[in-house]
Amino acid sequence: MLKNRQVLLGVSGGIAAYKICELVRLLIRAGAKVQVVMTENAARFVNPLTFETLSQKPVHIRMFDSGTGPLKHIELADKAELLAIAPATADIIGKIANGVADDLLSTLYLATKAKVLVCPAMNVNMYEHPAVQDNLINLKSRGVMVLEPDSGELACGWEGKGRLPEPEVILEACEYAVVEKDFSGKMFMITAGPTREAIDPVRFISNRSSGKMGYALSRAAKARGAEVILISGPTNLRAPLGVKLVRVENAEQMMKACAKYSQDADVIIKAAAVADFTPRIKAGAKIKKEKGAPVLEFTRTPDILGELGSRKRKDQFLVGFAAETEDLVKNAQKKLKEKNLDLIVANDVSKKGAGFDVDTNIATILPRAGRTEYLPKLTKLELSYKILDKIIKLFP
Ligand code: PMT
Repeated sequence: MLKNRQVLLGVSGGIAAYKICELVRLLIRAGAKVQVVMTENAARFVNPLTFETLSQKPVHIRMFDSGTGPLKHIELADKAELLAIAPATADIIGKIANGVADDLLSTLYLATKAKVLVCPAMNVNMYEHPAVQDNLINLKSRGVMVLEPDSGELACGWEGKGRLPEPEVILEACEYAVVEKDFSGKMFMITAGPTREAIDPVRFISNRSSGKMGYALSRAAKARGAEVILISGPTNLRAPLGVKLVRVENAEQMMKACAKYSQDADVIIKAAAVADFTPRIKAGAKIKKEKGAPVLEFTRTPDILGELGSRKRKDQFLVGFAAETEDLVKNAQKKLKEKNLDLIVANDVSKKGAGFDVDTNIATILPRAGRTEYLPKLTKLELSYKILDKIIKLFP
């Protein structure tokens, strides 16, 4: 995670510099220590005072400003854990790829031992020019992480690739760049969100799951180096960077997707709130109200977690969730045993700040062997990192 990480944020001179104001806010909210450095051209797009106010620190622009000492660049470079350049213009990309150090930001790139993230943003023709592409290939070959620009309408009026991704996406890329890759080489299958069980073509029954818990787990696992397949019921969420998203609608489809992707998975986490019942008959046409209130009959949906538990290989680690409103630990222990799980995460969904559709959760982690851990209220991302810490201890 980004908590207490030293992030040196290099802003170069493109119109997308305005998006970095929001990125600074998000980085600080994530607990990072942010130092902004701007090129002289960037300072023409956004007033440095804006960044100084948001980061509560002076912004550095020139190499030799009076009062900061001649070795400012070394001091800044040494302190940083991450140098994130966003937006990165063709000019700054060209300089750093070729070892030119003629201003503070390009000099910092040469001087720092920190991880480097570059977020290109420019006109589509400039971005696609072989000179820029060669420079990016060159940077990637040196271990620099490059966040691909988005496609769409550009500030210059052209359509195409070159838009700076949204601040939330850059934040995720910063996290990925600094987090230790302790799950590298592992494949995760994670489920998230609700399922929708159709009554007729326009109506369904579902539940209050937003998908936030499963998406946060996917982001944390990807940040820690795993390959992640996220099987998700209907949600409004964006898949985390680099995560393969498989969309499903109902329990039956989730079952099929899990059967397919679980074969290659080393770790399976079932955070989805799968419907336990589905209407026995799904009407082919919209049920007309003139016919009076219908009486619905239900059948059980497949117990996906139980199935995965019964087919679990010795080299697989299976994690379930238990959404309870009473006897949290007792009910979770029962599910842990009955479904042959290695770990279960129990949450009392009746508690404020826990469970469905909030950004936080209050969880108890029960491993098959070992001590039960009672956690305080955490963000779903913080909880995800804790769950992964537990998994890595039990499944090295
Ligand atoms: O999505 P959010 O808004 O962020 O909310 C998060 C959450 C509350 C959904 C999440 O933290 C959570 O508790 N997920 C599990 C919800 C649930 O279905 O719990 P359960 O106790 O009913 O089921 C136990 C386990 O069996 C779960 O891992 C569930 O995915 C699985 N299950 C349930 C039914 C079914 N037919 N097949 C299953 O695999």
